[in-house]
Amino acid sequence: MTNYWQVDPEKPDGQAIREAAGLLREGQTVAFPTETVYGLGADATNTEAVQAIFTAKGRPSDNPLIVHIAHRSQLDGLVLPYDETVCRLIDAFWPGPLTIVLPARPGVLSPLVTAGLDTVGVRMPAHPVALALIDAAGCPVAAPSANRSGRPSPTRAEHVREDLGGRIGGIVDSGPTGVGLESTVVAVSGGGVHILRPGGVTAAALRAALPGAHVEDSAREVQPGEAPRSPGMKYTHYAPQGRMVVVQGASEAAVVARMRQELAQAKAAGETTGALAFTGAAAQLDADCVLESGRGLEQLAHRLYDALRRFDEEGVTFIVAQGCPEEGLGAAIMNRLRKAAGGRVVQT
Ligand code: TXA
Ligand code: MG
Repeated sequence: MTNYWQVDPEKPDGQAIREAAGLLREGQTVAFPTETVYGLGADATNTEAVQAIFTAKGRPSDNPLIVHIAHRSQLDGLVLPYDETVCRLIDAFWPGPLTIVLPARPGVLSPLVTAGLDTVGVRMPAHPVALALIDAAGCPVAAPSANRSGRPSPTRAEHVREDLGGRIGGIVDSGPTGVGLESTVVAVSGGGVHILRPGGVTAAALRAALPGAHVEDSAREVQPGEAPRSPGMKYTHYAPQGRMVVVQGASEAAVVARMRQELAQAKAAGETTGALAFTGAAAQLDADCVLESGRGLEQLAHRLYDALRRFDEEGVTFIVAQGCPEEGLGAAIMNRLRKAAGGRVVQT
């Protein structure tokens, strides 16, 4: 049985948090909201509990988990001493959607959390319910996104229930998440910062917080034969059931024209079609399922995963999505769209 609690995101204390935290302490898995996506949590020091995360998700065991904390004082127990650059990142972005990969303190976390690496990704989520739950559990909480492996990350508790209902100890439901895309994952070395996965914190925000430091976007696709810097980058993620194409270009008119052409061809071939737009272009698109996320990149990020799930529910077999410039949050959006489309991005 999967326990279920509804918790007001503004007032998270109370019975529900105590019960959910009790399950975490007992070694069970509990899904909870963060400001990015829902996570599937377990006590990061308990190997059986962490194994239950991998089993419920069907996650490959070589993909390490992010450890979530509620207080900065928890960090020193989990990782080896760190430098000034890390302190500046923490001051600027925690709590918030930034995961920092640091050398793990040996013997503290379950070895399953780090998937055999000597580093661990840590973050402090900016969500009152997540912070209250981690605080009440009294342990570091390992939590990947609470989806079945290969499905879009969950941005609503219903998504978690669809994927993991009956397989996990509980679900804390606080409504839709904010950002809608996962945290930015960074590694810090020699005073420089490498972005391993683009996300809620943009490269520009990192540069602004670290004047003079080198911020390198290392999140490009891994080439065959090359060891991935962030193990998760090598898996095809977030793939909808339908074949998907992303159309990117400088002029909106040209992008819309190409999207219309792709849809017409797919329709003629007997496909059930879906379209995703975000600049108000939806009105010009003719598909069986047209989704408009609302104007702007923040709205697109917020709605993206829900839209991908909707296409699956509607039995869509061909999807065309409007791409965006890879600047600001657009870098993270295009990273996810490109994966969902299996690399099929056309330029106009
Ligand atoms: O926003 C988020 O980050 C969400 C919420 C729940 O916090 N979590 C999340 O976890 O997206 P997950 O497991 O879906 O993605 C974790 C990513 C993977 O790409 C993984 O390979 C990378 O972080 N990662 C974790 N530990 C790492 C490490 N020690 N070194 C390099 N990459 C690491
Ligand atoms: Mg994930």
